[in-house]
Amino acid sequence: MTETRHRTGRVRRSLGLLLTSALTAAGLLVTASPAQAESTLRELAAQKGGRHFGTALTVNPLNSDSQYRSIAAAQFSAVTHENEMKWESLEPQRGQYNWAPADSIINFAKANNQIVRGHTLVWHSQLPSWLNNGGFNGTQLRSLMENHIEVVAGRYRGDLYAWDVVNEAFNEDGTFRNSIWYQGMGRNYIEYAFRKAHEVDPNAKLYINDYNIEGINAKSNGLYNLVVDLLNRGVPIHGIGIQSHLIVGQVPSTFQQNIQRFADLGLDVAITELDIRMQMPANSAKLQQQANDYKTVVNACLAVSRCIGITVWGIDDERSWVPYTFSGEGAPLLYDGQYNRKPAWYAVYEALGGNDDPGGSDPGGSDPGGSDPGGSDPGGSDPGGPSGPCDVDYVVVNDWGNGFQGAIYIRNTGSSPINNWTLQFSLPNVYLNNGWNGDWTQNGSQFTVRAPSWNPTIQPGQRAELGFVAGKNGNVSAPNQFTLNGNVCS
Ligand code: XIL
Repeated sequence: MTETRHRTGRVRRSLGLLLTSALTAAGLLVTASPAQAESTLRELAAQKGGRHFGTALTVNPLNSDSQYRSIAAAQFSAVTHENEMKWESLEPQRGQYNWAPADSIINFAKANNQIVRGHTLVWHSQLPSWLNNGGFNGTQLRSLMENHIEVVAGRYRGDLYAWDVVNEAFNEDGTFRNSIWYQGMGRNYIEYAFRKAHEVDPNAKLYINDYNIEGINAKSNGLYNLVVDLLNRGVPIHGIGIQSHLIVGQVPSTFQQNIQRFADLGLDVAITELDIRMQMPANSAKLQQQANDYKTVVNACLAVSRCIGITVWGIDDERSWVPYTFSGEGAPLLYDGQYNRKPAWYAVYEALGGNDDPGGSDPGGSDPGGSDPGGSDPGGSDPGGPSGPCDVDYVVVNDWGNGFQGAIYIRNTGSSPINNWTLQFSLPNVYLNNGWNGDWTQNGSQFTVRAPSWNPTIQPGQRAELGFVAGKNGNVSAPNQFTLNGNVCS
């Protein structure tokens, strides 16, 4: 795993002030109260070996609430449909499909360069009543199940990063849940489902997903034994989804060990539905404990290289499923109902490696969506490279929606002068209008700035201050990496 630490995009209040005075003096400041860029959770996770940091989305707020949309786009690199891809949502009447809600979430994800986890093909719950109460026999159930996989996975072939092929197949004691699928086909339904899904969408990662399998216990042992058996028989299974609907103060101590044992089978592991609920009302002690618990979970994942990502089950406490499901409990997510960041948000930010002082809220305003996705690497992988004696800070000075003013500070952290420097970075969805204190060129999303002839050297301990104004088309994140004369800056 490559980990290149850098400070790009993080908030630096002191620098912001310096910048304000410098630009005011130069007559270049557009606003007196600069909005500053900072690392997002998705950027930080990407810097941790290309991991994703995802959320569950649901169509209503997505279509009507711009703050929800903008946090969803800015902070998360993976998306799961909270309900829209479940069988009862897709095929409420037999043969009548309702694709629009599922599609709109996929379109949002594409527009924001997010991967999609397909949730879920075969489950005992949220089945349409025509199916649940249809009195079908085993042969009929197999054909209904395989047909469903063919239709649904076929429709979204190539659009999804992964499928939760089978969801919640186990009882707490590690035996198989007595679902209609188990009743009809015995344990073989799991194998049938994976084989069919692989046939239909051969590039999707195929997961089995469950809850209360975070620690090593009877249920996760049952799953482990099943998976070993599936692998031995060549069944195409690629990942374990650990839902992680947890309770404050009760993160299992064997979480990391358990992730590791599944990873050691050659499987990916993803934390797929993380939330950590508490008895209401919340208070600061519980919120602090919750922050610690989130940190423990993030650290458990980061400690295992095949733990490839974390998805939280929703954005904010008010829209969470928890209060509707667990009587008297709530407040399980990273944002409160007004989209304020909770202590848990900061704990995740820090656990993912963010160490500047982020602001108290997400920048509002820009309503994402509508742009074309950039590359195909949703995690924004970190190519690494030799590290140089330089430190770069990136600040958004002002953002007016379809354009913005940025500043870049290059500090020489070495002991000799840096002459005739060339700075390079990538900034998708951005169109340069004008840059200063360097010779700016743009080639697609690649930017190159060369030292100006009148000031070609950065002395040790000194810094160069660059500025630019650009238009944008879609969501813009701080560059993942800066190189100076080919060396990666911190
Ligand atoms: C939940 C949704 O969040 C609710 O809105 C819905 O009413 C019930 O299902 N395990 C899963 C998810 O795999 O699909 C569930 O989602 C939460 C538990």
